[in-house]
Amino acid sequence: MLRTHTCGELNKKLLEQTVTISGWVDKIRDQGGVTFIDVRDRFGVTQCVVNPQSNASVVEVAGGVKREYVVQVTGAVSQRPVGQENPKLSTGEIELIATKLKVLNACKTPPFFPNQRDMPNEDLRLKHRYLDLRRGGMMETLQTRSRIIKLMRDYAEEHHFIDVETPILGRSTPEGARDYLVPSRVFKGEFYALPQSPQLYKQIMMIAGYDRYVQVARCFRDEDLRADRQPEFTQLDMEMSFVDADDVMGLIDGLMHKLAKEVLGQEIQLPLPRMTYDEAMTRFGHDAPDLRFGMEIVDCTDLAAKTEFRVFRGVADAGNFVRGINATGAASLFSRKGIDELTAMVQEDFGAKGLAWFRVEEDGTLFSPIAKNFEPEILDGIKERMEAKPGDLLMFIADTWEISCKSLYALRKRMGVELKLYDPEQMHFSWITEFPMFEHDAEADRWVAMHHPFTAPRDQDLELLKSDPSKSRAKAYDLVINGYEAGGGTIRIHDSEVQQQVFGLLGMDEEMAKDRFGFLLDALQYGAPPHGGIALGIDRVVMLFCGLDNIRDCIAFPKTQKASDLMTEAPNEVDSEQLAELGIKITKPTTPT
Ligand code: AMO
Ligand code: AMP
Repeated sequence: MLRTHTCGELNKKLLEQTVTISGWVDKIRDQGGVTFIDVRDRFGVTQCVVNPQSNASVVEVAGGVKREYVVQVTGAVSQRPVGQENPKLSTGEIELIATKLKVLNACKTPPFFPNQRDMPNEDLRLKHRYLDLRRGGMMETLQTRSRIIKLMRDYAEEHHFIDVETPILGRSTPEGARDYLVPSRVFKGEFYALPQSPQLYKQIMMIAGYDRYVQVARCFRDEDLRADRQPEFTQLDMEMSFVDADDVMGLIDGLMHKLAKEVLGQEIQLPLPRMTYDEAMTRFGHDAPDLRFGMEIVDCTDLAAKTEFRVFRGVADAGNFVRGINATGAASLFSRKGIDELTAMVQEDFGAKGLAWFRVEEDGTLFSPIAKNFEPEILDGIKERMEAKPGDLLMFIADTWEISCKSLYALRKRMGVELKLYDPEQMHFSWITEFPMFEHDAEADRWVAMHHPFTAPRDQDLELLKSDPSKSRAKAYDLVINGYEAGGGTIRIHDSEVQQQVFGLLGMDEEMAKDRFGFLLDALQYGAPPHGGIALGIDRVVMLFCGLDNIRDCIAFPKTQKASDLMTEAPNEVDSEQLAELGIKITKPTTPT
């Protein structure tokens, strides 16, 4: 036996017992002939003591042991001397007086130590992921991840879901991103696509009568990566028959309640608050607003229409918007330079033409380089509308709806952080509902599905599909946690004619739709029940529950921003024979000179 106990298990109940533990050397301290070796495994750390009374072989081995060596220690559990206890450790009241010490394996001097205070740079951590994963923080996160997935599976089982696996080698399902393709050896020139999600398979399962499908599903999307996006990620994917949007949201409400309670010890109020997409855009400029704080967007377009100030008036007359936020108490925090920086941000990131701002002075007057352009009654109107108080900073964007949403969303988010408007421990869950069916892709000048093409319109909007599709709203819902989209789903179209109509609006004629989705259109004609579902981004849920701001920190083997794995060095070139077998010829881009 390599151990009788783990390194986190020994306590005063085991005093005087002889035990064996195995693990990594976390720390070594030599104090006047007595050597303290902290031995660590996944379960904890145990302090082992080698003293001059120990036998000679133990003393000798101890002399050669270094940090991160793998060792096995046998000894008697004894009480630590008074004053030497460590209340932070579960094993902090005891120590192990070593009678045997064996090196199970040595360790080269590592590029960084798992317990070092400053984190090494991320590339180094990813290259030596086995060392990085030894860090206490990583272990805690991956244990929480495992627990969250277990709670999700239990919850699904309690609610009569069946876990079904769907193919990884499949046919492309449009989810808005580029596919990862896998060449077929048998059918040269043909490709499988890795699933962006199991969307169509789960709908087919409903048509087949497997009401209540669940899967912890791996999804693959070749898209631009960010701190909350990975090229492969995991969803809690669910689908249900004979349900409406309320049923799906209600089910997930219960799951969030359970997770918050079990993982964070927080009691959340149900039902989770809901807000329509239109309301979210009007009040917060975004479809995943951070609702841990207020500072809502205020519309002043009607006031702008009454001033002679060219910038505001012009925008209002053109049918666009003048909206702003009141950064309460922020006047003293932002110098002219600070405001210039905010202005540059909205200009560079969102194409805003400028940022108009006012500082509210002690006497209540509005100070700004542009204040002189406004009539006194307009300034009074602005003050009243914005509920301005001395010390506030008012910021306005005069622009199209889209630019004003994006800019004010970013400004509000920045103020939330800078003014510390929320408690980082606090979690906020909400639903955003009734998304538009379609959004306009300006680059391609065509309509694309806002969620995916299988989403049902609201019943009252069926007519709008014919008359003004841009106004139609979907039976769609997103779960938002602390300003992140943590999940999204919809009620699906279960009528092949409506499905065909939506494909048509997305620019697919009958033939094209048949070619791509013939199997779905067929299946919808063989007794498809009303159905709908949702997918939660498990990586994001874990990130948020662990209070992290980078999705890579809650995935054991994540990819970099460029979708590469620094440890295994994937992607990599393959043998020419392998390529020949697949009938593939590589044309390398010529390196620009
Ligand atoms: P959607 O595309 O909204 O819906 O994805 C569901 C959830 O998955 C997470 N997610 C991601 N997480 C990490 N990296 C990514 N690249 C990434 N992309 C998405 C998000 C998101 O809310 N089939 C539909 C679901 C349905 O309609 O039932 C779907 O995949 O948290
Ligand atoms: P200008 O006369 O264009 O230099 O603008 C005068 C002031 O109004 C500057 O402080 C600009 O930052 C601000 N401004 C200009 N255009 C806009 C806009 N579209 N929205 C908000 N402020 C603007």
